[in-house]
Amino acid sequence: MSVLSVNGLTVSFTTDGGTLTALRDVSFDIPDQRIVGVVGESGCGKSTLINAILGLLADNGRIDAGSVLFQNDRELTRLGDSDMRALRGQRISTVFQDPMGALNPVLSVGHQMINVQYRSGRSKAEKIARAVEMLRKVRIPDADTALSRYPHQFSGGMKQRIAIAMALMMEPALLIADEPTTALDATLEVATIELLKELQRDIGCSVLFISHHLGVIAELCDEVIVMYAGEVVERGTTRQVFNDPRHPYTFRLLDCDPARQHQRVRHLPTIPGEIPDLRRRPEGCIFAARCHRVHYACMRTPPVTEVGNGHAARCWLAGNPETVKVTA
Ligand SMILES: Nc1ncnc2c1ncn2[C@@H]1O[C@H](COP(=O)(O)OP(=O)(O)O)[C@@H](O)[C@H]1O
Ligand SMILES: [Mg+2]
Repeated sequence: MSVLSVNGLTVSFTTDGGTLTALRDVSFDIPDQRIVGVVGESGCGKSTLINAILGLLADNGRIDAGSVLFQNDRELTRLGDSDMRALRGQRISTVFQDPMGALNPVLSVGHQMINVQYRSGRSKAEKIARAVEMLRKVRIPDADTALSRYPHQFSGGMKQRIAIAMALMMEPALLIADEPTTALDATLEVATIELLKELQRDIGCSVLFISHHLGVIAELCDEVIVMYAGEVVERGTTRQVFNDPRHPYTFRLLDCDPARQHQRVRHLPTIPGEIPDLRRRPEGCIFAARCHRVHYACMRTPPVTEVGNGHAARCWLAGNPETVKVTA
């Protein structure tokens, strides 16, 4: 069973310089109770992907093609605003880099944690008990008295844990987390990742986790999607993608250093060149201009090649791992 099935999703923005295709033919599945990571350089379409799923694209954006199916029965690209709002924050919830996006500075933590339960049918006393329980789960000390305190009275790491507690309060089927640990220092980041994993198991939800931190992806995620310039260039289990990359872009990100995936690599390595202008997408392979393995076939768009058991890459060389890995 899949919690979310994205198929052929194509999204564009109208800009002064013409139409910008931010996502092209994006397909992937988030299976039940799995953590799926999305990795890619800035500008490759990670936030657009989330916004398209949540029905929160900017006014100049639109879905040109494709489908986003939630729990096999709800087509999110056709859901009305009020149905979508009901789904968000209840069946699908979010955590972002800045916890203050989720927390209101002028309301006490308890007030806000009770508010998010307004659709729960719980009594006031039950809502308070549930808020305390969630604060304990995210290891906020003195959970009872913490309810009467305000967001600014907590440290950055604690604020993010409170935001996570709020996101998971209604036991969503899917948590979407966009760089939730990027603003935290390394020690807090490890603790927050461990906590997320524990809560995910506890609640039995799925997670779509966006990050450009490869170490965190390797540690947390069951599966990985590698995005480049709005396309999924590779997907598979974390082990498949990290141990046996089949797209030169993935290979360059990992730098073919087996130790690398165990290190806490906080930033993606720099690859010479830039993402192409998405208003004038080049013909053929989207990565060709920066690829160390570019050859004549790349003038044609490569198909998505399945290389085994859910592992796939959009590269002419995908079937030939040794060729992908040559750096010269
Ligand atoms: N509202 C918008 N109008 C025009 N272009 C946009 C808009 N939002 C995003 N983009 C463009 O879409 C591309 C993908 O952006 P984004 O999804 O924010 O990438 P990421 O989150 O991976 O950094 C970028 O080229 C960005 O400039
Ligand atoms: Mg982004």
